[in-house]
Amino acid sequence: MNTAKILIVDDELIMRESLAGWLERDGHRVDKAASGEEGLDMLEKTRYDILLLDIKMEGMSGLEVLKQVAENDPDVAVVMITAYGSVSTAIEAMKNGATDYLMKPFDPGELGVLIEKILEQQARARETLFLKEEYKKQTRFENMIGQSRAMQEVFSLIEDVATTDSTVLITGETGTGKGLAAKAIHTKSPRSGGPFVAVNCGAFPETLLETELFGHQKGAFTDAKTTKKGRLELAQGGTLFLDEIGEISMRMQIDLLRVLEDRLFYRVGGTQPIEADFRVIAATNKDLSRAIRERTFREDLFYRLNVISLAMPPLRERKEDIPLLAEHFLKRFAMESNKQIDKISREAMDELMLYEWPGNVRELENAIERAVVVGKGRKVMAGDLPIFSPEHRTLSKDLSLQAAEKAHILKILQGNAWNVKKSAEILGIDRSTLYSKMKRYQIRRPD
Ligand SMILES: Nc1ncnc2c1ncn2[C@@H]1O[C@H](COP(=O)(O)OP(=O)(O)OP(=O)(O)O)[C@@H](O)[C@H]1O
Ligand SMILES: [Mg+2]
Repeated sequence: MNTAKILIVDDELIMRESLAGWLERDGHRVDKAASGEEGLDMLEKTRYDILLLDIKMEGMSGLEVLKQVAENDPDVAVVMITAYGSVSTAIEAMKNGATDYLMKPFDPGELGVLIEKILEQQARARETLFLKEEYKKQTRFENMIGQSRAMQEVFSLIEDVATTDSTVLITGETGTGKGLAAKAIHTKSPRSGGPFVAVNCGAFPETLLETELFGHQKGAFTDAKTTKKGRLELAQGGTLFLDEIGEISMRMQIDLLRVLEDRLFYRVGGTQPIEADFRVIAATNKDLSRAIRERTFREDLFYRLNVISLAMPPLRERKEDIPLLAEHFLKRFAMESNKQIDKISREAMDELMLYEWPGNVRELENAIERAVVVGKGRKVMAGDLPIFSPEHRTLSKDLSLQAAEKAHILKILQGNAWNVKKSAEILGIDRSTLYSKMKRYQIRRPD
C-alpha cells in the first residue's frame, strides 16, 4: 500500500483528530491545521501529496483556500469535505481544481479507498511525465536518436556549438549521422531562420564545383548565358554545409580558404565582392590528418575549418542505441508501407546486437527497411534481416562482462608477444592478478 504525506485543514477539532487517526493507522504521515490561513502557511513550508480541506470554516473558507492552492501548488490533490446537502458547493470546488470530495458522514473505508485512488493517479501521472522526459532526452533533436552516453555527449556539444557562429568540422565514419548533426546545429542556432544549404563536394568535378559554390557572372564563359547565384550566395544569412570536404581539389581548397579568411567571395567572372554572411559546417569521413601528412589536404584550411570539432561515434561503440534506433526505423517503415509490423523478435535483435555495423546507422536503417519489405507477420524475424558478413560479426555470442574481459586479456597478450609483465602494465593490474585471471579463463600461451 502506498503511503502519503497528507495535510488536514478543518476548524473542528474532533474532525481533525478522527481523520488523522484513521489516516495514520493506514501508515500515512499527517499534519493538521485549524484554519485556512494556517493550512496555507504549512503548504508553503512543506510539500504534501494530498490536502483534505473542509469547505465550511470560520474565517477563510475552503473554496478560498482551494483557489490559492490550485494557483500555487497545482500538484497537490485537494479533497473537499462537505456537509450533507451542499453538493453544489462541492461541484463548484471540482470546477476550481479540487480532485474529489467526501460527503459527511463518511467512514474510514470510504476515505481509504479515495486516498488510494488518488495516490495511484499521482503515481501514473509521474510515470507518464518521466517517460515523456526520457523520450525527449532520447530525441533531443527532431529525428536524432540516441540514449548512449556517447550520443548524449554529442547532443550537448551540438547545443553548445549551436549558440556560437564558429566553424565546425564534423568527422565520423560513413552513416554515423554527420549530415543530421549539421542540420541539428543549424536548427538550434540563431541562424535557423535563414537557409541551410548543403553541398556535396565529392559529387562534382572541380570546375563544376567552382561554379556550383561561387556562381557565375553572365558571360564568364561560353555557357554562362545568364548570371547564376552559387551555393555560397544562397546560404546568405544561414548555414553552408560543406559535405565530403576531404574530396576537394587543392585549387578549391585555396579558394575556400580565401573565403574563410577574408569573409568575402566573387562569382566566377565577377568583380564585385560579396560578403560571406553564413556559418560554415564541414564534414568528412576521411582521416584529414593523414591527408595533411600526404599533402593532399592543406593544413591551414584544416585549422580554419576545425575551430570546433565534433566526432560522431561509430554505432559499434554505442550498441545500446541499436534497439532504440531499430524500433524507430521499424515504426517509420511500417507506417510508410502500411504494414502491421511492430515488433522485433528476440533472435533478430540478437543478430542486430552482434553485428559490428561498418555502415553504421545508415546500414541499420537499410536492414530494417529490408526486413519490413520481406517480413510476413507482426514481428521482424532473424531471417528477414540481410545476411551479415561473418567478418563483421562479434565472434562470441556471449555478451557478458566476463567474456569481454577474457577476450580483452587475450588480445593484449597476443599483441605483446605473450609478455605477461608488459600486458599486466597495460591492463593496469598486478602480474599475479593477470596470472590468476589467465588461469580462471584458461588462457594459455600457444606453443
Ligand atoms: N542518431 C540517429 N538517429 C536517427 N537516425 C539517424 C541517426 N544517425 C544517422 N541516422 C540516419 O542514418 C542515415 C545516415 O545519416 P547521415 O547521412 O547523416 O550520415 P553521414 O555521417 O552523413 O554519412 P556519410 O558519411 O555516408 O555521408 C540517415 O538516413 C539518417 O537519417
Ligand atoms: Mg553525409
